[in-house]
Amino acid sequence: MNIDNLTTPCFLLNLDILEGNIKKFQGLADETKTQLWPMLKTHKSTEITRMQIEAGATGVLTGTIDEAEAVVEKSGVKKVMLAYPVLGSANIKRIIQLKKKAEVYIALDGEDGAREISQALDGEEINYLLILDSGLGRFGVSADKVVPMVKIIDNYKNLKFSGICTHTGQVYSVSGKQEVGSIIEMELKSTKTAVENLKRSNYKCDIVATGTTPTFSEAIKSPYITASRPGNYVFCDAIQVALGAATVEECSLTVMSTIVSQPTEDLFILDCGSKCLGLDKGAHGSSLIEGFGTVKGHPELTIVGLSEEVAKVKIHGETNLKIGSKIEIIPNHSCSAANMTSYMVGYRDEKVERLIEVDIRGNSKRPQID
Ligand SMILES: Cc1ncc(COP(=O)(O)O)c(C=O)c1O
Repeated sequence: MNIDNLTTPCFLLNLDILEGNIKKFQGLADETKTQLWPMLKTHKSTEITRMQIEAGATGVLTGTIDEAEAVVEKSGVKKVMLAYPVLGSANIKRIIQLKKKAEVYIALDGEDGAREISQALDGEEINYLLILDSGLGRFGVSADKVVPMVKIIDNYKNLKFSGICTHTGQVYSVSGKQEVGSIIEMELKSTKTAVENLKRSNYKCDIVATGTTPTFSEAIKSPYITASRPGNYVFCDAIQVALGAATVEECSLTVMSTIVSQPTEDLFILDCGSKCLGLDKGAHGSSLIEGFGTVKGHPELTIVGLSEEVAKVKIHGETNLKIGSKIEIIPNHSCSAANMTSYMVGYRDEKVERLIEVDIRGNSKRPQID
């Protein structure tokens, strides 16, 4: 089937671009002997996880325990890092179960979390990475506080210090792509300082993990960083393009939509809205993007407004499109867009090849109520 015959709205995944992105990042990581631990929250798909592992990823970084359990079960993943601290006895029990099937690294950023998980472990040891705050101001401690924090956590049994991890997500709120360099500097400086401080106190870091898609290619050159955990690179999106971290040709995920109305000469209405494209401007609010997605191959169009199921598109000057034409939109933030569908249509050269299920889609698991 040709993609043009698909009903809209529809999430298209260009498999050549997807495979190219996976290969590119794995290749760059291999060149610098940095381990790649892709973050799964972008695609939430056990099939794409399998592709990343087959390409050479050492392990994966998961944002949720659901993701971790699913990829260990279905993708043959043997090594898992949890991105954020886990609390609550039911969740801790799940981590303990997971540890029987895979090498697990939890993330800690303070004494309370350490105490709770240490008590629940009941004699078994678990690896932990201390979260370093390299400027995002979300979790963790700054580089000058890592040693005192590790010493505090040392008071709790069963927790094995394996290293540090950080995420310079503030890169998504820069006001110009020239500022990305200063975020990379923060990533490099804070990890170097933290590792040296730990070394002086005889703490060895087996793992020093950082990672965002825009800072990836520079950060992996650091001799202090042993593992990188990018997520968005598999799809890329309009935000990565605005930051200079990807080209339009590297964006693998698009939403295909039909022009269903033209109420005025300079306005089209599409059959996809915020329930496909999302209203967000990236995880940390990018001011660099215009509109609610980029219409591929049509610079004369700007998506100026989204209702839930429809979009308003401003036409600047001439266009060859008309009611009934199908267009492809690169979402501003592909991680949020992918979480709004259960299936992506994988295609090559305009021909549909297979469906890729978003089978670890956020909040789609039945809650345990008894
Ligand atoms: C802790 C952590 N590491 C890595 C990533 C991946 O970043 P990116 O999607 O920019 O590659 C994220 C993204 O949310 C994250 O929260």
